Amino acid sequence: MSFTADARIVSRALDRFRLQAARRHSPVVVQPPIEELVRQLDLDGHAARGGLSGRRLAAFLDCYLRSATRLHHPSYMAHQVAVPHPSGSLASMVDGFTNNAMAIYEMGPSAAAIELWVLNWMIRKVGWQPMPYPREGAGEAPHAGGVLTHGGSLANLTALLAARSAVAPEAWERGTPADLAVLAPAESHYSIARAVSILGLGSAAIVALEVDDAGRILPDRIPAALDRVRRSGRRPMALVANACSTALGLFDRLKEIGAVCREQGVWLHVDGAHGASALLSPGTRDLLDGVELADSLSWDAHKLLRTPTLCAAVLARDARRLDGAFQQEASYLFHDKAQPGVDFIHRAVECTKAGLGLRFYTVLAALGEEGLARYVQSRFELARAAYDWMQSLADFECPFAPQSNILCFRLRGDDSRQIAIRDTLIADGSFHLSTAEVHGRRFLRATFMNPDSSMDDVRAMVESIRLAAGRS
Ligand SMILES: Cc1ncc(COP(=O)(O)O)c(C=O)c1O
Repeated sequence: MSFTADARIVSRALDRFRLQAARRHSPVVVQPPIEELVRQLDLDGHAARGGLSGRRLAAFLDCYLRSATRLHHPSYMAHQVAVPHPSGSLASMVDGFTNNAMAIYEMGPSAAAIELWVLNWMIRKVGWQPMPYPREGAGEAPHAGGVLTHGGSLANLTALLAARSAVAPEAWERGTPADLAVLAPAESHYSIARAVSILGLGSAAIVALEVDDAGRILPDRIPAALDRVRRSGRRPMALVANACSTALGLFDRLKEIGAVCREQGVWLHVDGAHGASALLSPGTRDLLDGVELADSLSWDAHKLLRTPTLCAAVLARDARRLDGAFQQEASYLFHDKAQPGVDFIHRAVECTKAGLGLRFYTVLAALGEEGLARYVQSRFELARAAYDWMQSLADFECPFAPQSNILCFRLRGDDSRQIAIRDTLIADGSFHLSTAEVHGRRFLRATFMNPDSSMDDVRAMVESIRLAAGRS
């Protein structure tokens, strides 16, 4: 069986999968027991026999797709994972086929060119100075820098590593000094706490910033917090702000926070893994007002930019700071070489790095910048419309006005009721929601990622929740 014939089988199966989901002809999620799936997929048999191709490939794929979660279904509202645009999915295939591990230029010049272009596109959105091409004199004029990473968690780790190297350049060789502290709101994504521990600071080095009722940093309390850190004999290594937070999707006030950090000489890292995409649309851009004051920013394309997993970026206002993050030597990779491009390996945790830029670039080129901006704005507007409508429902509580495409709410009742509702919806395959704990209370959480979800779906979701509550 030829590659082209198998590719046709795969593309037909995927198109059917997408269309059935988009037309609501299949459940949004099914979760058979894992041992049953191992058997149904005949994993032992295929591995022993080999030759998975043609009709057997088609049957295998049918079985695989039956228990694949359908992000293309308008009832998919669970997690912050992009509903991939088909152009991006094809790009993932091209990348998988060419397998250009492009961290060094010679392993993927096209992929490296796209990575540089994508990073500069993002850098311009932030309002920073883009990276010049190497032969234009990289490193001479101050400019921003970046690298694409396999996920926002690695982007956050890389940013904090750059912050550590700015504050304690000796740390790479001698280890992390014990007096460093990282200030962050408790609402920060767990990858921040992980990064702090991975960096050897220990999670006790995290100082919780004072926040408002919705978990947003109170900028006027930052100087006192910094003062307390310094008086306790510690050095602030970085302050982390959310754009936006994971649970509630709310944005910290970056302009005020940035001004305080500048004044106090503290590295500001903005975790924009989810919300930095609001920079695209004039209608949502203001949410990130002041982001240009940050020292570093994480931004995931595989969340709000319709890009298949993974494609994240870590950007730094001053490229030299990012270059300082790693000081590794590997003689077979890192050496002066006459080459017409750039290596990204110096800035990355990863050694083998996929051509991540292509999967985002093709989406951008398919939808156009305006199309992508309209998508982001429309998802934010849907969350707002759902919130406004829920205010009129006596049996629902929806206390936090959304600023993004994330909305938390609950059917009146206790925490276990919310969990039982979600489980029932998943079991009947009607809606895929997540939950989040806010102020010690469990909320249902809708993340409007699917471009086809509408208020009709929100109304149907509310009806399904009421039915599920009656049954659970
Ligand atoms: C604010 C924030 N930062 C970081 C991450 C981690 O990103 P990734 O899943 O790409 O590692 C998430 C994931 O949801 C997030 O919401």
